[in-house]
Amino acid sequence: MTEYAIELNNLTKKFGDFTAVDDLSLTVKEGEIFGFLGPNGAGKSTTIRMLCTLAQPTSGSAKVAGYDLIKDSARVRENIGLVAEKMIMYDRLTAAENLRFFGKLYEIPKQKLEKRIDELLELVDMQEWKNTQISKFSTGMKQRINVIRALLPEPKIVFMDEPTLGLDPQTTFSIRDITREINDSGVTVILTTHAMVEAEALSDRVAIIDHGKVAALDTPQKLKNMITNSDTTIFGTKITNLTSDLIGKINSLDVVTAMSQQDDYNLKISAKGDDALNQIIDTVRHEGGNIASITNSNESTLEDVFLAVTGKEMRDQASEKAAPVHHGHGHTPKARVR
Ligand SMILES: Nc1ncnc2c1ncn2[C@@H]1O[C@H](COP(=O)(O)OP(=O)(O)O)[C@@H](O)[C@H]1O
Ligand SMILES: [Mg+2]
Repeated sequence: MTEYAIELNNLTKKFGDFTAVDDLSLTVKEGEIFGFLGPNGAGKSTTIRMLCTLAQPTSGSAKVAGYDLIKDSARVRENIGLVAEKMIMYDRLTAAENLRFFGKLYEIPKQKLEKRIDELLELVDMQEWKNTQISKFSTGMKQRINVIRALLPEPKIVFMDEPTLGLDPQTTFSIRDITREINDSGVTVILTTHAMVEAEALSDRVAIIDHGKVAALDTPQKLKNMITNSDTTIFGTKITNLTSDLIGKINSLDVVTAMSQQDDYNLKISAKGDDALNQIIDTVRHEGGNIASITNSNESTLEDVFLAVTGKEMRDQASEKAAPVHHGHGHTPKARVR
């Protein structure tokens, strides 16, 4: 029907004078896991609430599963599932009773609902807890039920708003696995998280939102490439007889653009040009230095990208330039020595 699972066109949400979501336009492809990142207050949850028809846009429009958010809101609701920021669960009901309750809200026929509940409990490995009161569950177990609750009506698109917030590492891991499985079954996933590792591991593409606007949007790899100065390489050298003299000599090489001493033996050296590694090695040897190891890294992390596009310093520059990174003229900070 449509190649996009979601299409936002100048979507805007104001609370009084305050603009929480500011003229947001982006598309999410069918079958994607789309990472929706941004600092607290960036407007992520507000955007998700609008796309789930829980909040009215102030202006702009969006299509969800091919249906217009405003004109076809009932159709939109039929195609989506929401794992909300706050869990909605009845503590005094059992897992199955909770799921039945929500299944009835979705008007799923009784027999089909029972089958679906069993399938989903199996998906999250909770079959044996089916008839146990939610009040006896750990936070992680509750969250697994909360996640499958969103899957009851077999949605095409699932919104997961910080599904691993406050969970222990084991549960976090299992929720990530479940997210992958949901996606593997053909469901488009919009995932909000503060865990960059999670965003990077799961997302096909990532949007970083700040002040209700897109600050960057691309695949994790491309985002990382963007902030790495491509002709600069960062070498980590371990020199067993490192002296300040030698450090001075390396630093004075033209190919070396920045450098820092990590400890008695280790240097991080940013260098430019094809011949950089040769020159560094020659210099160290010439000065009688003994190289124990050299590592070479050009990789930045998604966290670097996040801080680069939302951090205070970069934010000021970004507003001067007003050039969103996904249009291809993003701010490219000089590769740093970390
Ligand atoms: N119902 C509301 N009334 C007034 N302000 C709101 C309301 N909901 C959210 N906001 C404000 O909108 C901004 C974006 O909030 P939110 O979408 O929850 O951010 P995020 O999920 O990215 O942390 C925040 O500054 C928040 O305080
Ligand atoms: Mg939020």
